[in-house]
Formats: sequence, C-alpha cells, structure tokens
Amino acid sequence: MLPLNDRPLIQHAWEEAREAGIEEFLFVTGRQKEMLEEHFDHQPELMRTLESRNKQDMLDKVRGSEMPEGKLFLTRQAQPLGLGHAIWCARKLVGDEPFAIILPDDVIHTPGKPGCLSQMIETYNETGGNMVAVMDVPRADTAKYGVLKTGIDHGRTVEVKGLVEKPDPAEAPSTLCVIGRYILQPEIFKLLEAFEKGTGGEIQLTDAMAKLIGHQPFNGLRFDGKRYDCGSRTGFIEANLAYGLADPEIGTQLAAILGKFTTDTQQKGCNNAA
Ligand code: G1P
Repeated sequence: MLPLNDRPLIQHAWEEAREAGIEEFLFVTGRQKEMLEEHFDHQPELMRTLESRNKQDMLDKVRGSEMPEGKLFLTRQAQPLGLGHAIWCARKLVGDEPFAIILPDDVIHTPGKPGCLSQMIETYNETGGNMVAVMDVPRADTAKYGVLKTGIDHGRTVEVKGLVEKPDPAEAPSTLCVIGRYILQPEIFKLLEAFEKGTGGEIQLTDAMAKLIGHQPFNGLRFDGKRYDCGSRTGFIEANLAYGLADPEIGTQLAAILGKFTTDTQQKGCNNAA
C-alpha cells in the first residue's frame, strides 16, 4: 500500500496488468493485509464527498481505479514460505491456463510506452511457453536475483537454458537477472507441489521454473523501461522521484525543489571542505 507518487504500489501493478489485457486479478496476501482489498472496493462515501465538492479530477481518478465486479480474487499465504509457495497458493484460482505474475515491489517505469507486461505479452504471442522479464545487473549483485544461464541471444529476447536463485557472484552463470514479471504455463504448479526448499530455506519459484526448461519454450525479455526496487529504501525514494518528475501536475515544481536540495548539498559540501 506504499504510495508511489499518487497511488499505492499495488495499484500500479494492477494498472500494468489491466493495460496488458489481463481481466482477472488474483492477489496472494497474508496477515494484516486487509487494506489491499479495501483499496479496490467501491468507495461510495468518498465519491459522494468528491461529488458534493465538485472535485471532478479526483472523481475520475477514483472511478478509474475501481476493480470491475467479480474480477478480484484473493487467497492467503498463511506462512512466508517463499515466492514459489505464494504462487502455489493461487493454483485453484489460476486453473489450467497460462497466467502472468507481477511482483509489485519491482516497479518498471515506461513513460509514454507500453508497460512491461504488455511488452512481454506481445512477444509471448509469438514465442508461447514461459517468459521472464530480464535485466543486466552488476556481477556483485547477482546474489539478490534469479540468474539466467543463457542460450541463443536474439537481443531483445534471450533463450533461457538454466536458472539459479541468488548465486554468489563468482558462481553466477551470467549477470542477466529475473525481474518480477513472469508469464508461466500451468505445469509450474505440479513442480511447485514438491515443496522443495531452496535458497534461504524457501520454496523458490526459480527452482520450479528451472525444471520447465527443455520441456517448454522459455525466454527472457529485455524490457524497455527503467526498473526500481521498491523493496529497498533508496529504490523506493528513487522511484518516487522518477514518477513525480514525469508527472505533468507536479514535475516542474518537484524539479525546482530537487534543484534547491542539490544546491544546498553542494554548498554544505563546500562549507564542510572549508
Ligand atoms: C524474487 C525472486 C528472484 C527475482 C527477484 C526480482 O526475489 O525470487 O528470482 O530475481 O524477486 O526482484 P526477492 O526479491 O523476493 O528476494
């Protein structure tokens, strides 16, 4: 529910999915996350207040973020046993069809362009199979990600030959890493059901995905956009700055404020040096 610019992270994720043509939304939540479902509910009191105050622009925003009736499904992951386990918790809701996953703390900013999931679906319509969003990271950071062993590299898409969860930089098969967007085939659920514990003692999605390789097409997509890790404090602040600066309502004002901060910091730096 952390706000990124003017709306919660979960809403950014939902909008990206909706834009990509996704029509049914499954949230895997946990203890004390009730706010997530409340946020997408019809908000009659708020609407009445905005109507009575003639706040048309805000009314439009609230209406634009309403979940269509009967399209939100929720399930709970009772214990934090890992990403693979969280996805397994949604198996009955997904059923026997391909599905997409968004990890909302991985924000991908694509101003003026289709969102990351739209880009993936466009490519998936040609390749089929399974697909992950990928990005190169400094080798020192491979221990934070699922890392690809790459096959044929077509530039924008790359064949996935293997996947390793959070390898030591010295052992990482490449520096091409999985970012929180996936399109997967339902066969993944059978593999998750083994409940094998991997890195960090957690049931890892990466380990189950690795077992699909060779049986189904598996590709990485180098998406067009900038990714922010909103699971880290600096990443979250950086994302807010990027979205704020790109926002026509506040961008100019924010740039001026930032300019002032930079000048202040430089002057302080000079004073300190003196
Ligand atoms: C998860 C996945 C990892 C992926 C990452 C992307 O890790 O397990 O493979 O690269 O998301 O952000 P987490 O960040 O939840 O530890």
